[in-house]
Amino acid sequence: MEIPWWRDAVVYEIYVRSFADASGDGVGDLPGIRQRLPYLAELGVDAIWLTPFYPSPMADGGYDVADYRDVDPLFGTLADFDALVTDAHALGLRVLVDIVPNHSSAEHPWFKAALRGEGRDRYVFRDGGDEPPNNWQSTFSGPAWTKTPDGQWYLHLFAPEQPDFNWRNPEVHAEFLDVLRFWLDRGVDGFRIDVAMGLYKAEGLPDLPPEDQAFRSESPIWGRPEVHEVYREWRKVLDSYPGERMAIGEVWTDSAEDLALYLRPDELHQSFNFAWLEAPWSATAFRKVIDDTLAAVTAPTWVLSNHDVVRHVTRYGEGLTNSTAGLARARAALLAMLALPGSAYLYQGEELGLPEVKDLPPEARQDPVFRRSEGSLPGRDGCRVPLPWAGAAAPYGFSPDGVGPWLPQPVDWAALTAERQAADPGSTLHFYKEALRARRELRGALPDGITWLDAPEDALVFTRGPLTCVLNCGTEPVPLPPHEHVLIGSAPVDGYLLPPDTAAWLHTP
Ligand code: NOJ
Repeated sequence: MEIPWWRDAVVYEIYVRSFADASGDGVGDLPGIRQRLPYLAELGVDAIWLTPFYPSPMADGGYDVADYRDVDPLFGTLADFDALVTDAHALGLRVLVDIVPNHSSAEHPWFKAALRGEGRDRYVFRDGGDEPPNNWQSTFSGPAWTKTPDGQWYLHLFAPEQPDFNWRNPEVHAEFLDVLRFWLDRGVDGFRIDVAMGLYKAEGLPDLPPEDQAFRSESPIWGRPEVHEVYREWRKVLDSYPGERMAIGEVWTDSAEDLALYLRPDELHQSFNFAWLEAPWSATAFRKVIDDTLAAVTAPTWVLSNHDVVRHVTRYGEGLTNSTAGLARARAALLAMLALPGSAYLYQGEELGLPEVKDLPPEARQDPVFRRSEGSLPGRDGCRVPLPWAGAAAPYGFSPDGVGPWLPQPVDWAALTAERQAADPGSTLHFYKEALRARRELRGALPDGITWLDAPEDALVFTRGPLTCVLNCGTEPVPLPPHEHVLIGSAPVDGYLLPPDTAAWLHTP
């Protein structure tokens, strides 16, 4: 049976500032992406997701949008965007763009008007006197409220430069429906929805218990029941366009059941399954996430890294003396992820095995998390360092020679460039290409569910029709179950025993 393209797509996240710089200003841009589309087609992904490229003062790397219907000159023009979509489609790549509906930039004309006292009801303004109206904390540290010169306070769940919209105002609904149409009319295949479980705040804006400020499935801040109405409206718009347009929500929840609420048939098509990304290197933990997800969600997704979290090569290597174990585990986790039913989201650079850059100098760091926590939190710049494409020294082909990228690249990334790895059959880039090719070849032959086979406690073994996937998270080799041949391993596999920190796909007719 034909399934919609997104049901088993592999989507590649492009953090636009850090992908490829064609203009030579040290910042990635749309023409840079366009030039590199053949690389992505050859890698074997089905779609790209572009992080925000809209006009923005860049207080949060573009997640502070000043105009939802244009391209920031830093990244190019609308004509560049159109050309990018045309070329991507010609190469068989779908294009998702990021929609940021929880907040705008403080430079958005609506917020500037609100500060002048016009249309304040589009945002969340309250009287508070000398103290903020409640005890809510910003996700980026510090109070979630900032006082305006006339004494009122406005809400910002993120930086003060990102005022939260008031979704109880119908004007906000109408505006975003129009923004969706604007990009759908330009040919995008779908949207990634930023902070999709935000948007509505509980009536009366009640105080939170101090220990209860973190992301939650449902709280006065997150996961309000009213938010689902927004996605029902959006779904109608998406469904009114030809060609299986879709939306994936950035939804942080406590359980797969709560995630499933966003995926009811008249709401979002997909949501990121962060439980997979948050799981430690443990077969038991992975098994639980897989079981919980498949029990609750009919269109699952899997993701190991994105522009907000420590790269998984580094996460999995944390605390280990063996410096190559993080990469070995990252490759193994990728293979397990690609064997699961549903779609997979990759983050740029993971195909090169890039680690988190932990030693960025404080003066180079740009994430508001670092600034607002006064350096006590490193922030997310370490996973956003511009990609190394080619050459022996920075900027490694990211920018033209002689141009310094917006974040400095490590001196030892020459061995990790796409160019070097393309020439090495043992490279991580080569492994990603092979894994994606193997997945494509199996497309259509795999049932929707998985069957667990008996396995040692530290290993996962499951089948999907002719495919058996084995992942060894333990410290001892694991015997491989009966099979015809090994389709692919995350490291060399002899056919009988799977070494620790390794995964393999077996053909079992
Ligand atoms: C989630 C985005 O992925 C992150 O980068 C951003 O800082 C916040 N939402 C706020 O928009």
